[in-house]
Amino acid sequence: MEFPIYRPRRLRKPEKLRSLVRETSLEVNDFIMPLFVRPGKGIKKEIVSMKGNYQMSVDVLAEEVKELEGLGIPGVMLFGIPEEKDPKASGAYAEDGIVQQGIRAIKEVAKDILVITDVCLCEYTDHGHCGHIKHDRKGQWDVDNDSTLELLVKTALSHARAGADIVAPSDMMDGRVGAIRKALDEVDLQDVPIISYAAKYASAFYGPFREAAESPPKFGDRRTYQMDPPNAREALREVALDIQEGADIVMVKPALPYLDIIKMVKDAFDYPVAAYNVSGEYSMVKAAAELGWLDEKKIAIEVLTSIKRAGADIILTYWAKQAARWLKEGLI
Ligand code: PBG
Repeated sequence: MEFPIYRPRRLRKPEKLRSLVRETSLEVNDFIMPLFVRPGKGIKKEIVSMKGNYQMSVDVLAEEVKELEGLGIPGVMLFGIPEEKDPKASGAYAEDGIVQQGIRAIKEVAKDILVITDVCLCEYTDHGHCGHIKHDRKGQWDVDNDSTLELLVKTALSHARAGADIVAPSDMMDGRVGAIRKALDEVDLQDVPIISYAAKYASAFYGPFREAAESPPKFGDRRTYQMDPPNAREALREVALDIQEGADIVMVKPALPYLDIIKMVKDAFDYPVAAYNVSGEYSMVKAAAELGWLDEKKIAIEVLTSIKRAGADIILTYWAKQAARWLKEGLI
C-alpha cells in the first residue's frame, strides 16, 4: 500500500494550529530571579553590564521581591555583597550578614515567594576565590577543599536559620552537598531542600556577574574547581555524586552553551533540573539589542524556550521579571 506524503507544514499554517501542537511553552512558574543585596539604605544601583539589574540595599530588595511575588514569580536567588571581605569569608556566615538581613526583610513583606540563597564564599573572601587558599610544597596556590566545607556548612546553616527556603551551594567543592545535608538534618532543618550547582563550568560567561557581585578572583582562575567546558560525561558523574549526597534539584550552568548537558542530565537522571541562564548570556543580548542588532524580547523568549526544551524544569534568569510581564501581556 502506498502512503500519502506526510506534510508537517500542514500543522504550521494557522497560529491556532501551531499553538495546539506546540511542545514547549514558557510559564512564569519556570523562572527564578537572581538578585544582589548590598549594605546601605535606599540604594538601587544599576549594574552597568547587566542593564535592568541592580545592587539593592535590604529595604529596596524587600520591595522588589514583593513586586516579583505579585507578578507570580515563584522564587528569587540571593547574592550578597558584604561591607568587608577577609580570608575566612566571615561575612558569609555572620548572623547579621547581608544575605541574612535580606532574607529576614523579604520574609516580612513577601511570605510566599521562595527565598533561595547562593551558598558560596567568593563574594566574601578578600582574594575572590570560593574557598580557603593554601599553598603546596612548590608554593603553588590551591583552594583547600576540606577546610572550605566547614565554612560552606556554616554559611548554609546561617541562611536556613535566617529563613531561607532553599540553599544552593555554587562553589563546586567535592562533598559539599553531603556535608550541608548532614548539618541541616542534625539541627532539625530537614525540610530545607538543596539545589546543587552540580555541573558548573569554568565559563567566561560569568564576567558581568563578577562585576555585579564584586567577586573576580584577584589571582588565577576557577579552573581547578569548576568544570572544563569540553567535558560532557564528567557532568553526569558530578550530578550522580550530588544526587547521592542528597541534592533535591541539580543545576547546569551556564545554560545556552550547555544545552546538550541539560538534556543529558535530564535523560540520565529524571531529576528536577535547573539551568542558570547566566550574566554573559543576558548581557550579550542586551548589548546587541541596544545597538539595534537584535530584538531583545524575541531573542530572550527563544533562548528561554530552548533551555526549557532541552529539559530544564527551572530557569534562573535575569529576564525573569521582564518575561513575567511579557507573559501577562500575552506576548509569549
Ligand atoms: C559563585 C557564582 C557565580 C555565579 C553564580 N554563583 C560566579 C562564579 O562562579 O564565578 C555566576 C552567575 C552569572 O554569571 O550570572 N558565587
